Amino acid sequence: MALGYEAVQSSDGGAEGIWSVVYLYEPYWKVRRVPGPPTVPLVGHLPLMAKYGPDVFSVLAKQYGPIFRFHMGRQPLIIVADAELCKEVGIKKFKDIPNRSIPSPIASSHFIKKVSFHQGFKMVDYEKRDIICLSTVTLGKPRAFQADSETNPGTMDWKVERTNKKLSGRLDEIVSNRMKDKNRGSKDFLSQILSAKESQNVANNVFTPDYISAVTYEHLLAGSATTSFTLSSIVYLVAGHQDVEKKLVAEIDGFGPHDQVVKEAMRFYIVSPLVARETSKEVEIGGYLLPKGTWVWLAVGVLAKDPKNFPDPDKFIPERFDPNCEEEKQRHPYALLPFGIGPRACVGQKFSIQEIKLSLIHLYRKYTFRHSPTMENPLELEYGIVLNFKHGVKLTVAKRT
Ligand code: HEM
Repeated sequence: MALGYEAVQSSDGGAEGIWSVVYLYEPYWKVRRVPGPPTVPLVGHLPLMAKYGPDVFSVLAKQYGPIFRFHMGRQPLIIVADAELCKEVGIKKFKDIPNRSIPSPIASSHFIKKVSFHQGFKMVDYEKRDIICLSTVTLGKPRAFQADSETNPGTMDWKVERTNKKLSGRLDEIVSNRMKDKNRGSKDFLSQILSAKESQNVANNVFTPDYISAVTYEHLLAGSATTSFTLSSIVYLVAGHQDVEKKLVAEIDGFGPHDQVVKEAMRFYIVSPLVARETSKEVEIGGYLLPKGTWVWLAVGVLAKDPKNFPDPDKFIPERFDPNCEEEKQRHPYALLPFGIGPRACVGQKFSIQEIKLSLIHLYRKYTFRHSPTMENPLELEYGIVLNFKHGVKLTVAKRT
């Protein structure tokens, strides 16, 4: 860092050259001991991503082991692809790695620098970061970053912005009405926050109306894309496995649990294949000393398809989660992490599982499903930070007799 500073002080071209080299290599230098493929200046390992697509981290894990370096441009990521190490990052060393990292394309883009924060997000950095990361995980374009940008009418950005404004307006209205309601009770999340705001113990300036709207919005976003994708993937997978459908229908008719199908579908198509973290101080992980500010990403998608944890990982086998089966007994308890891990894990986990199970009961009580001939085969997926179906899932519906 000192070198870079001195170089900037000098005005000759040589210093600029040194500064550029320092700028490009400084992030790499700090984590150079962590193994990883050779990097290409400026683009880092992005060519590998183009070559291997979504399997890139599985390919690299096989070659470099459970912890390795991957460079998105000049930004190094330390990828962790081992259940025990995930536990270390997410739980054991949580106090040194408490937050999510911001994906650099968002943090540094001109768009982000130009636009002003919507609704006066006057939060401390920690909170702002949270909102940004979560929105990125769920929608790709955070609300906090969407206001005041100029978009051309009719374009997709314009439509997203318009919908976003409508939705924000509607949510603000709900929050404001609920605030006025003195008999709101504590039946839902929003009522609980509002009551906390009004209680003597909680600082009023923490739960500002903007903050409450933002949190409500986040819950809506975090919960909708993820849960709807999971439900679609379950119905899609079950429609292609009639033996599983038979069991599922019997479980539902007999008021039995149907956790195995849900877990296996969440493993098969893991909604969030990467869980992001950033070190808040120097910390040792897997034998490597990582400086403060290192991005550590848990490759939970690699774990979910690791034959060590899940033999025949590309087969849909709900029975692998049968508590009496050897595979289940021997598996590492942190091999499947669709909701993340530790104190930062998804707060909506129990709620969404209930929602999914209830939806399945409603659907399969009366109907069964088959793949529609109009649906592409093999199914095309869209690999963003959150997984999605490129063209949706098309099914034919049959009424149960
Ligand atoms: C199938 C459904 C869902 C999946 C797969 C999912 C997955 C995730 C994942 C992977 C994370 C990051 C966890 C981490 O960093 O360790 C997360 C965070 C979060 N999710 Fe979910 N989620 C789902 C449903 C929901 C629902 C229904 C809600 C709200 C009602 C919700 C609210 C949140 C919130 C608020 C966070 C941030 C937690 C924090 O930073 O403390 N999620 N979710």
